Amino acid sequence: MIEGRPSNTAFQVAAARAAHLRFDPKPPLLNDIHAEALLDVEGLAMIEGYADGGPWIMLENRFFLPLRARFVEDQLIKAYAHGVRQFVILGAGLDSFAWRQPPGISELRLYEVDHPSTQSWKMNRLEELGWTTPNNTRLVPCDFERQSTSEVLAKTDFDPTKPCVVSWMGVIYYLNRDTAESSLRDLAKLMAPTSELIFDSMLPWDMLPERYQIIRKAMAEYLNGAGEPQINRYEPTELGQAVEATGFAKAEILHPADLVSRYLDPSQLTLEIPERFRLAVATR
Ligand SMILES: C[S@@+](CC[C@H](N)C(=O)[O-])C[C@H]1O[C@@H](n2cnc3c(N)ncnc32)[C@H](O)[C@@H]1O
Repeated sequence: MIEGRPSNTAFQVAAARAAHLRFDPKPPLLNDIHAEALLDVEGLAMIEGYADGGPWIMLENRFFLPLRARFVEDQLIKAYAHGVRQFVILGAGLDSFAWRQPPGISELRLYEVDHPSTQSWKMNRLEELGWTTPNNTRLVPCDFERQSTSEVLAKTDFDPTKPCVVSWMGVIYYLNRDTAESSLRDLAKLMAPTSELIFDSMLPWDMLPERYQIIRKAMAEYLNGAGEPQINRYEPTELGQAVEATGFAKAEILHPADLVSRYLDPSQLTLEIPERFRLAVATR
């Protein structure tokens, strides 16, 4: 992160979600109707980069980033049906769930936790748009490299004695390994039994197919330039062990193909499976 500047990758993820709505067939995997509005002129210009005919990695992101968000939102709806009433979005970026909450979850309390630089940008953007923050939603600043989630949530009405769903998408690979693991320990202590933490992780480069190796240098240059190098990657077994070692009762590590088969007929998939990701579903 570059201090005082919003996360560039948060713009990119919102642009990918907007591009999914603009360019992919209906019904969408994720109907993020606010992604486009939340972007400013610079962010809007990113959407075209995800159009058909563009670099394959952009098409992969246009497919997988909405899919991982859809998975989280479905897990939340399931948990709500089982009585969970708290949802924490860590590193929320331009997540718009708060502004498009579906009917039937009116008792939900929602906490968007993000780096102060990204969050203050989002708050200004919301003001420009004239969008008020829903009554059930709190925007909580936190730099994970300096503060813990439990520390910042303690200043809100979050109830650690009650279960929650925590989403932490697109963040762990930007954190120092020590920060990632101390954050996991903190979350394991904070989250009441039966709570669920869902996050994605990236495989080490040497486990990735050739097509990723070809673009490795260009990707690294882009992310370094944005001040968001991806510095923390896990081999899947190591990821499961890291999560369980921090105090979670169980960690299920999902392959992107597991998500694809959940939502699509895999034979209709025109892209390669996005091998670089894994999803962790950790239960307290
Ligand atoms: C790739 S974006 C993901 C945004 C969102 N989760 C999504 O999927 O659309 C990365 C997010 O991580 C946040 N982030 C990165 N480093 C952080 C840190 N040290 N503390 C808090 N948030 C951080 C950024 O502010 C940004 O919102």
